[in-house]
Amino acid sequence: MIADFNSRNNGAEAGAGFGSGNGASASAAVPNAIEVERIVKKYGDFTAVNDVSFDVKEGEIFGLLGPNGAGKSTLIRMMTTLIPITAGTARIAGHDVQKEPDAVRRAIGVIPQALTSDLDLTVEENLNIYAKLYDVPAKKRKQAVDELLEVVDLTKWRNAQTKTLSGGMRRRLEIARGLVHSPRIFFLDEPTTGLDPVSRVAVWEMLTNIKKNRQLTILITTHYMDEADRLCDRIAIVDHGKLVALDSPVALKASVPGTNVIEVQFDNAPADWEEKLRGLSDVTSVQHLGAGMYRVLTGNGSRTTTELVEMSVEAGVSVKSLSVQNTTLDDVFVHYTGRQLRDELVKAYGFVMPPSPGVQP
Ligand SMILES: Nc1ncnc2c1ncn2[C@@H]1O[C@H](COP(=O)(O)OP(=O)(O)OP(=O)(O)O)[C@@H](O)[C@H]1O
Ligand SMILES: [Mg+2]
Repeated sequence: MIADFNSRNNGAEAGAGFGSGNGASASAAVPNAIEVERIVKKYGDFTAVNDVSFDVKEGEIFGLLGPNGAGKSTLIRMMTTLIPITAGTARIAGHDVQKEPDAVRRAIGVIPQALTSDLDLTVEENLNIYAKLYDVPAKKRKQAVDELLEVVDLTKWRNAQTKTLSGGMRRRLEIARGLVHSPRIFFLDEPTTGLDPVSRVAVWEMLTNIKKNRQLTILITTHYMDEADRLCDRIAIVDHGKLVALDSPVALKASVPGTNVIEVQFDNAPADWEEKLRGLSDVTSVQHLGAGMYRVLTGNGSRTTTELVEMSVEAGVSVKSLSVQNTTLDDVFVHYTGRQLRDELVKAYGFVMPPSPGVQP
């Protein structure tokens, strides 16, 4: 029997559900929806997740950001009871995933990385099947399905066969399906990978709206920096199974030395150019991206730009393009991992989205 999760705001149940039996969360103003402590996953000798700890507060949108193979899906699979934990603990909605997996399953909605809706069913049938699976009472089912179709903007498509939907629409259907039993905590594994930019933004907007209108904690994995920056209250950067940084997007960006990033392309830069760029005032780091393109981090964008242009004129080096932006999460990733996330994605997929319109990766 599936419990009634809609009663979670009515006093006693909410208190019992979250943080009970955990001293650390009892004193916090907002209870923790997710508590992961020193979690490890080994496949034979290979450690896919290596001693990771973090808490997610009720109502937060929490991002797990990392390149391919970082361990994001493995973390989600452990938190959602799909694979056993090698060491450490995870408590979801106050329940230990190893000791009370059924209670955890009732409290969560999960959107796995691969698309899993049934292509031969209609949109509405896909939702209804899940609602029945989760024992949503018949009376509530229709209302829940109608509401969710509206939320994900698929009302007009309710009778369409799922195979006729675009990738973005199918993703939206799966998000609706994951919410049909009113879970407290929603896990989404790369919900926007492979979607075109317009569909990606539609999914973000939808998630933000859902978050506003429902009492929901969201844990989302992504390797899109802009997505994490825009959506998440806090972000954990994972790399090679380890948590390397954890904070709000603003604080993460502030933790990187330098406040501006200059992306500049030169036509005929000499061999020692990178070193020369490093010598300019306020520069904290320089990265050569190839093809005469450099990424310069600086504490003072305007001063460094002026000096950079003067130096180029003196040296007879021509500037092909130049842009000055605020520090981004890309810079945060480079700072904490020593690598560019975009390079990792190119290796994995052979293509990557430009970081912003007009800027080639
Ligand atoms: N069943 C398995 N057996 C052996 N190794 C595995 C298994 N599942 C995952 N791995 C390995 O664990 C590491 C983490 O994989 P995981 O799928 O969690 O990464 P990810 O961060 O989700 O990457 P992606 O962005 O590609 O989805 C990878 O090196 C992967 O090859
Ligand atoms: Mg994954």
